[in-house]
Amino acid sequence: MKARVSDDALALACGADAVAAALAAAGVAVDRVSSWGMHWLEPLVEIDGNGWGPVTPADVPALVAGLLAEKAIGRIEDNPFITRQARLTFARAGRTRPLSLDDYAATGGWNGLAAARALEASATTETVVQSGLRGRGGAGFPAGIKWQTVAAAPGARKYIVCNADEGDSGTFADRMVMEGDPYLLIEGMAIAGLAVGASKGFVYIRSEYPHAIAKLQAAVALSADIVAPFDIEVRVGAGAYVCGEETSLLNSLEGKRGEVRAKPPLPAHKGLFGQPTVINNVLTLAAVPFILAHGAKAYADFGMGRSRGTIPVQLAGNIRHGGLFETAFGITLGELVNDIGGGSESGRQVRAVQVGGPLGAYFPPALFDTPFDYEAFAAADGLIGHGGIVVFDDSVDMARQARFAMAFCAIESCGKCTPCRLGSTRGVETLDRINAGDNRAANLALVEALCDTMKFGSLCALGGFTPYPVLSAIRHFGEDFQSPARERAA
Ligand SMILES: Cc1cc2nc3c(=O)[nH]c(=O)nc-3n(C[C@H](O)[C@H](O)[C@H](O)COP(=O)(O)O)c2cc1C
Ligand code: SF4
Repeated sequence: MKARVSDDALALACGADAVAAALAAAGVAVDRVSSWGMHWLEPLVEIDGNGWGPVTPADVPALVAGLLAEKAIGRIEDNPFITRQARLTFARAGRTRPLSLDDYAATGGWNGLAAARALEASATTETVVQSGLRGRGGAGFPAGIKWQTVAAAPGARKYIVCNADEGDSGTFADRMVMEGDPYLLIEGMAIAGLAVGASKGFVYIRSEYPHAIAKLQAAVALSADIVAPFDIEVRVGAGAYVCGEETSLLNSLEGKRGEVRAKPPLPAHKGLFGQPTVINNVLTLAAVPFILAHGAKAYADFGMGRSRGTIPVQLAGNIRHGGLFETAFGITLGELVNDIGGGSESGRQVRAVQVGGPLGAYFPPALFDTPFDYEAFAAADGLIGHGGIVVFDDSVDMARQARFAMAFCAIESCGKCTPCRLGSTRGVETLDRINAGDNRAANLALVEALCDTMKFGSLCALGGFTPYPVLSAIRHFGEDFQSPARERAA
């Protein structure tokens, strides 16, 4: 008998190591694999394609004796959570041993790089343009256009920088790629290097991801000969949300304070150490090997409108079936939250979801027919961001959430521009007055005016987008701002 247990950080946090040890003690050989992304079932044990979860060490004797029917989920590949997905980026999730070069090559690994090596660099960038791939870090900028700009920019040296800061609340897809399929990211970076003429890449990764750092460092060393002469260095950030902003990240990489730079110049023209630089999110780069291996059309055939391909949606917060769900763009928010996510974990009514991290809008169920698509979300004054969805049930106090959004901006502001640095602090004070019932109508008008100044006067999206959660809370959940917090709690 052979069992498979994930060594993804979430599985570990749920006790996967203890379960693996109990299986080994019972004489079962254990392979440590990547996670299927069904987080509510971790630690998930797979034997001959069938799954049991969540398994505890105490369950192991019954499992080995074939008596753990109450935790059996049948064939994992046939689980609706898996069959309803379109897994292009996460095709290997749950199926391979993360650091095994054999597993990677046996599942189509390095085919994209081989295709790029056989093409002119301009044909590679054109393939990425035609695929319609847009940046998955938040802004949704077309990846191929960015690559073409860097390829055409004069510079003594060019760089590929992978943004693995993944600071958005409720997101973990970058981490899952780096822990579960690290060669995929390395392959994507090497293809980008070939396309723009860069032989050096950096991965900027948050210090809060120790398992991903270790996996990626090991994978970089093990695959160095395969991607040579492209060379990758893993750099660990000190922990600041704003260091995910691309120019702030570049400053941090250069050893400077993580403060946002004014644009222009764009990083594509003058980026790391003043040289033309591609900065892409982990998911953007991890989508590239599929595109090169299977062609632009195979990717662009998924999606809707200008949102082509698939998006790894991350279901988090108060949700029954949290996890990683990769799907073509176009699925509605309601399908994701209710059909796939199974509604709230608490069993209470879902009242709000925040999509796109701490700068994303709060949507009520009335907006659940919004398709997951960059333009559709923008039209509803929201954003997809990095694809994270955080669910709240009807016990949430949206006036407190609005204050939280302002306070987050005040804490994380890099301090470079006034609307964000001072505006967010004044915003917290004003929201506190509203919550205390002090001159509510006038203070609400003041918050709206302040948000207008932040939106149009901030240098980067931290100050510029904080108004989205604040104003959406006021707009969709106005009743929470009409009585003091203590009355609402009563
Ligand atoms: C405050 C702030 C934080 C950000 N954090 C991240 C992050 O953690 N990861 C990321 O990929 N992009 C983040 N971004 C977006 C980056 O600035 C940039 O758009 C992205 O790295 C470009 O890659 P992409 O085109 O592949 O999305 C952030 C932006 C802002 C304004
Ligand atoms: S908006 Fe905030 S984080 Fe962005 S540059 Fe201005 S002060 Fe810095």
